[in-house]
Amino acid sequence: MAVIDDSENTPVNPRIAAGAETISGIIERRLSRRGFLGGLTAVSGLALTACAARPGEADLSAGPAPAFSFPELARGLDQTHHVAEGYTARLLLRWGDALFADSPAFDPLNQSAAAQRRQFGYNNDFVGFVPLAPDSGGAARGLLCINHEYTNTELMFPNVAAGYPGSVTKEICLTEIAAHGGTLVEIRNGPDGWAPVVGAPLNRRITAETPIRITGPAAGHDRLKTADDPEGTTVLGTMNNCAGGITPWGTYLMAEENINGNFLGDLPADHPEAANYKRMGIPGASFQWGRHIDRFNLAKAPNEPNRFGWIVEVDPLDPLSLPRKRTALGRFKHEGAETVVAPDGRVVIYSGDDQRFDYVYKFVTAGRYVPGDRAANADLLDTGTLYVARFDADGAVAWLPLVHGAGPLTAENGFHSQADVVIEARRAGDVLGATPMDRPEDIEPDPASGRVWVMLTNNDKRKAGETDAANPRASNRFGHIIEITEPGGDFTSETSRWDILVRCGDPAIAEVGATWNPLTSQDGWLASPDNCAVDAQGRLWVSTDGNDATGAADGLWAIETEGARRGTGRHFFSCPAGAELCGPRFTPSGDALFVAVQHPGDGENTSFENPATRWPDFEPASPPRPSVMVITRNGGGPVGG
Ligand code: FEO
Ligand code: CA
Ligand code: CA
Repeated sequence: MAVIDDSENTPVNPRIAAGAETISGIIERRLSRRGFLGGLTAVSGLALTACAARPGEADLSAGPAPAFSFPELARGLDQTHHVAEGYTARLLLRWGDALFADSPAFDPLNQSAAAQRRQFGYNNDFVGFVPLAPDSGGAARGLLCINHEYTNTELMFPNVAAGYPGSVTKEICLTEIAAHGGTLVEIRNGPDGWAPVVGAPLNRRITAETPIRITGPAAGHDRLKTADDPEGTTVLGTMNNCAGGITPWGTYLMAEENINGNFLGDLPADHPEAANYKRMGIPGASFQWGRHIDRFNLAKAPNEPNRFGWIVEVDPLDPLSLPRKRTALGRFKHEGAETVVAPDGRVVIYSGDDQRFDYVYKFVTAGRYVPGDRAANADLLDTGTLYVARFDADGAVAWLPLVHGAGPLTAENGFHSQADVVIEARRAGDVLGATPMDRPEDIEPDPASGRVWVMLTNNDKRKAGETDAANPRASNRFGHIIEITEPGGDFTSETSRWDILVRCGDPAIAEVGATWNPLTSQDGWLASPDNCAVDAQGRLWVSTDGNDATGAADGLWAIETEGARRGTGRHFFSCPAGAELCGPRFTPSGDALFVAVQHPGDGENTSFENPATRWPDFEPASPPRPSVMVITRNGGGPVGG
């Protein structure tokens, strides 16, 4: 997500924030967005920096054999996407596309909540793939599970002034609420490649008003009760769904991240949730929903924010099932929820808390995964142990259990039950001495190697006196990637090892302090790692949110993690102007890769009328549309070679 909170919980665009402090040698290569936008009338003709599928300057054939064989994409930034030579990227789903037989056609000048509830949502983020049986003709099928993280109101709707003014109508707010959440949609690999199946029986929209059951230790607790839900067990909606995961039993996990921005208003005086909400940046008041809908106004529904910030589990094979908020996994700004089965059958879920100086978590189920028995696995996520990470200078990770009654997690410190611990997981991490990290985003376990990849996007607020071994750079504008090694592949271990794979940024600028392998080409380094995936061959892929602070588009890089090339990158895909790249997700065979282009056209002073690009339609009357693409290798075969 482009909009995050700083320590004062003020929405900040990290790309703009990076420009507030400049490093000599970087600023000259930064782009002038104002100049960029000024030339937008000739949308299709504008190219700031040529993007082209060509080999990088470095001789990639030199040195030890690379794990990837595609010709590297050149760094650049223009109004459209680019993929490495020999590959094809096709649009699969755009904001507003039909999902159901009765979905209205996308009409951006007259978008409505009713239409949006039946259409693909906004700002696609996580992409999950659940294989389905081939159709009668033998074509491969699958269910895509896609999160919709947030809304760019001024890009979505005409005549909305910058700054989300109070004049925003209730219909716009309801449309935004319908644009959050997730989409489940069948796709089929027909003669023309992967395509959505409109009207398929498992297609579903989940929005910020879909009824959801609350389960686990906080279910029914007084702190989750509201006038609308005096039982504290059913909440309307899930929102700010960032990354996520697919469980081994085929359910879809949606991570609720920056939920604070949707609340406004003041808590009643001396309200007991004041400190809790301050720690979560509530109310962020980035949006106006609370002016029209009482439950987003703290003065009217003071407990409602405790009902968001959780991991939501959805059964994709039952479109009528109520999703579940699994409170055992804690409440914070969850970036993702990737799962792995440990050798003893317990399931481990990793999750980052994407805020500067917040924590890395994992959850270990008490029960064991039973392959092929969906009922036995149905409620595994309700019972287990949530841990928060302390990264020690000697290379050890201590996983600290967030268990009521253990250590300082007692009534003396305001934790009266496990419900209090999970509701205030951040504060529990504080008192346990967890390590404050540089914005932990996606975390991906690799079951084959026992390694876990942790994306740390950036942290320009870390001061020189606040560095530590795991967060070694002050004013860390470009982020780094940590490798955790779980001993013997035991992902349940309470003690692990960590190392830094790479400090990101431009290795040619000494002040940046990047640590790329010298074999990295001039196009192969990246800044601000955000999402990641491990492909069928165990190779790491990393997408970015903030690479454009270095003068080139966000996109996707393949990263070497073994041997003499460890710590090199290779550029594979670049986004259109203003966008970050989410997903990525491979099919199990590795022959198709899904990527989610989020907030295209976003930037300083951009709007519906004046976006940074009108990708992907490039129609004069069409705003930019966040979209999912599918990438395949020309002639077939595994993506990446
Ligand atoms: Fe939703 Fe942290 O990006
Ligand atoms: Ca993200
Ligand atoms: Ca991921």
